[in-house]
Amino acid sequence: MTTHEALPAISSFTRPVDFPGHWLWGAAPAFNADPLGAMMTAAQMGRIVRLRFFNTSAYLLREPEDVKHVLVDNHRAYHKGYGLQALKPILGEGLLTSEPPLHTRQRRMIQPAFHRQRIAAYADIITRYADEHLATWRDGAQLDLHEEMMRLTMVIVARCLFDVDVSREAGQVGQAITDLIQMFDFNRIGPLGQFIDRLDLRKRRERNRRLKVLDDLIYAMIRLRRAEGVDHGDLLSMIVLAQDEEATSAADRRMSERLARDEVLTLFIAGHETTAIALTWTFYLLSQHPEVEAKLHAEVDALLGDPQRPQRLLTWDDLPGLEYTRRVFAEAMRLYPPAWATGRLAIADDVMAGVSIGKGASVLVSPYVTHRLEHLWPEPERFEPDRFAPEEEQRRPKFAYFPFGGGPRRCIGEPFAWMEGQLLLATIAHRYQVQVAPGYVAELDPQITLRPRHGMPVILKRRNRASPPAG
Ligand code: HEM
Repeated sequence: MTTHEALPAISSFTRPVDFPGHWLWGAAPAFNADPLGAMMTAAQMGRIVRLRFFNTSAYLLREPEDVKHVLVDNHRAYHKGYGLQALKPILGEGLLTSEPPLHTRQRRMIQPAFHRQRIAAYADIITRYADEHLATWRDGAQLDLHEEMMRLTMVIVARCLFDVDVSREAGQVGQAITDLIQMFDFNRIGPLGQFIDRLDLRKRRERNRRLKVLDDLIYAMIRLRRAEGVDHGDLLSMIVLAQDEEATSAADRRMSERLARDEVLTLFIAGHETTAIALTWTFYLLSQHPEVEAKLHAEVDALLGDPQRPQRLLTWDDLPGLEYTRRVFAEAMRLYPPAWATGRLAIADDVMAGVSIGKGASVLVSPYVTHRLEHLWPEPERFEPDRFAPEEEQRRPKFAYFPFGGGPRRCIGEPFAWMEGQLLLATIAHRYQVQVAPGYVAELDPQITLRPRHGMPVILKRRNRASPPAG
């Protein structure tokens, strides 16, 4: 019997299980106090669990086939949920937050930047920047790994997609993004919350101050490129030139400049924040599992030789030789999926596994939850990269693993993220063993993304031949 058939049968028009809650606020207090814990508790209560947040209902789905139903099979019945809509004051109508037909048109325009050939060309930029960044590291140094990964992935995405060097701005821009993420308030994601948010002038001022740091950078990039009038053959040129073609008046131009800003800012933030988090958690897990770390070191040493005297940088052609590295990165994203939950809003009535989902209801799917279902992932809390051996992957149903979402809203940067994750992980692991600082206790901070709370202090240990791979 497959794991799928093991699901409890659900008769037609089943009532969903209700999550207990406060008479007025519903599940909001429990979710605000501990979003991940509350979601895990809810997921154990049934296949589809209804949560009330004040006066709106949200259905939490956990099974792969239900996730697939919402993200793929019946995606037309859904728009992005309140959580992503609440990002519109920051991201505007960029790819992550817009809806069809705008989304369909923009996705078609942006997609070529993520075709295989283009991605391959980014590999050298990634390893060159990694090499430069590692030259600033020292044996025995203590630093915040999350901050380091943010800085590195930020300069990489800016160079690959927009052909600009943001290393000077990285610190200030990174801080602005961190502040904006921390300002995000789960209490304010429903319709009422958004209304209250609009009235909160102090918060709006604070947000706009941070946003200005990002806008100054993004508009400068767009205007410079437009003034140059030269096609760099990169994504920034594609966006700027496409916007220009559509503008027939100065007013159109201003509007389209705003849309260009939304797209560039979305790709800039989405293109580094999540990858940085995934890498940070990967090194955390490696520091806790020396046997996995040793196998990873053996793989990269076989490709690159003596860590003390690296002869060359990794390239696109090395990726097939980094199979264990891929598994390690995949397993880290199973346990700590950077985009840990996403929501949808039903714009039409739907029925899922016998439960009727009325128009206007919210639906939540969480890789954090589904990636821990025991019938799909035995001993779910155990870090075991070989779960991602190809034959194991084939045994699991689609959407047992979905760190990049699915369907027409699937992460556009997924191929980029896999390549970057593998190359950075291998390059760093070849030269340094990353140990979490003594006394550090990992704490998850489930905001929009799953960051480590208060960063991740680590101590760097330069590798040499005296630390041979085991196993
Ligand atoms: C480990 C790294 C990454 C993870 C875990 C991740 C995860 C996700 C997820 C789950 C979604 C779908 C959200 C939803 O359905 O509501 C998404 C969308 C998106 N991601 Fe990523 N992402 C990563 C890296 C990247 C990179 C490198 C880029 C760009 C260079 C990127 C750009 C985007 C964009 C633009 C969207 C919106 C796509 C659309 O709706 O058409 N992401 N990402």
